[in-house]
Amino acid sequence: MMSAEPSLPLPAREDVLDHAARLILSAWRSFDHARPDQPPPADRHRELLGRPLPEDGSDAVAALDAAADVLDVSLAQSRPRYFAYIGSSGLEIGVLGDALMASHDVNVAVSAGAADLLEAQVIRWVGQFVGFSGNAHGLLAAGGTISNLTALTAARERALPGFRQHGGAGHRMALYCSAEAHYSVRRAAEVLGIGGANVRTTPLDERRAIDPAACAAAIDADLAAGVVPIAVVATAGSTLTGAVDRIDALADVCAPRGVWLHVDGAYGLPAAATARASELFAGLRRADSATVDAHKWLYVPKSCSVLLVHDPAALEQAFSHHEGYIPHGQQLHAVDRSLEYSRPLSALKLWLAFTTHGARAIRAAIDRNLAEAELLAQLLRADDGFELLMDPPLSVVCFRPRTGGDRDAHTHALADAIATGGRLLIAPAVADGATWLRACFVNHRTTEEDVRAIPGVVREVSDGLLAGAGG
Ligand SMILES: Cc1ncc(COP(=O)(O)O)c(C=O)c1O
Repeated sequence: MMSAEPSLPLPAREDVLDHAARLILSAWRSFDHARPDQPPPADRHRELLGRPLPEDGSDAVAALDAAADVLDVSLAQSRPRYFAYIGSSGLEIGVLGDALMASHDVNVAVSAGAADLLEAQVIRWVGQFVGFSGNAHGLLAAGGTISNLTALTAARERALPGFRQHGGAGHRMALYCSAEAHYSVRRAAEVLGIGGANVRTTPLDERRAIDPAACAAAIDADLAAGVVPIAVVATAGSTLTGAVDRIDALADVCAPRGVWLHVDGAYGLPAAATARASELFAGLRRADSATVDAHKWLYVPKSCSVLLVHDPAALEQAFSHHEGYIPHGQQLHAVDRSLEYSRPLSALKLWLAFTTHGARAIRAAIDRNLAEAELLAQLLRADDGFELLMDPPLSVVCFRPRTGGDRDAHTHALADAIATGGRLLIAPAVADGATWLRACFVNHRTTEEDVRAIPGVVREVSDGLLAGAGG
């Protein structure tokens, strides 16, 4: 006899839900201020996380407590002094959006009712917010890597119609981008059969951006040699330094040559919404596609990448298909435009973020991050003890102490020592062959006091290392 009850009921679920809400609140309270250290995993965590698969269940409240305890000794990007890498910072309304999303578990692969309308609305909102289009199309994807790959798949199909069916048929192809483009661009070239070696990077100009004339010359040389240009990828906020390619000038290169222009704004494009930085992104409307990771500088939890396009048919040409398990009728489904099949309604957290905070407050938060990067740069410029790689174009600041001896080795050791101390977190990065500390400001919780703390902590740890080394 089969039971009339669900097979996996949650006992005392209301109490469990109340308890989960209290745990989330206590995490939020812990993120309100920097904490003095980052506790490492203890023996009890190693014992818990070394246990074998439990055959029998146990109390859900105790399990949630154990999970929260593990998270508390994990590196949380939500903390206000987490300056390492460009990450998300767990916007509170976004956290609730994720919980609500998961509870309904809508799949935006097939037509999913109002969820489709919500995703389309969020795409239009993001397109409007960054100045791509008031009527953008596109989709939400698992990350910037997938958005870039999706756009470049469409670009390949436009450049070589029928590639998806017949393969390259002997065509040689190339892709053009900045030497500072994110690795996902090269990965797309590898995955799409363009070939990593056929990613043409031109020397960086004084802004660490692509030189448009050099890019045009590279495309023309390829055309003359029978190589098919698939796309130019403009990076709008490089991961390493925040450098922004000149989108307008690259659109001038692409338009007469019929080459697809993709803007990888996974990190930086939200800054286009601010008065302070919008000029850097001039020409964005002329791009064929653009990636914006809402799980970076729109603050919502991972993952939530948005791919914007003007022409949804370009995605359909690359991805639409007929399968017996999802008959079409007259209508295409979301999977006819996306690389991924099952997709969560990750647009919901961004919809809630825009609806709850409003575009103005989100713009102001991004502007504040820009100001934080500028403040740190000012503090470092005014201090003989530090050197800066460059004035920050956006919200990434690369710097290091001026020491004698092997500055690269010292900076590496310094980043490790800062992480071990746990007062703040800044990762090392290599630019132009030298090692720097790279502070990234994309967190809505970071305050002026947090920024002002950076030079002092770095100096103290650096001095400690030098003293320990006998110098
Ligand atoms: C400019 C840029 N593009 C793409 C990506 C990849 O995004 P994701 O990690 O969401 O796949 C990143 C990640 O930092 C990035 O900075």
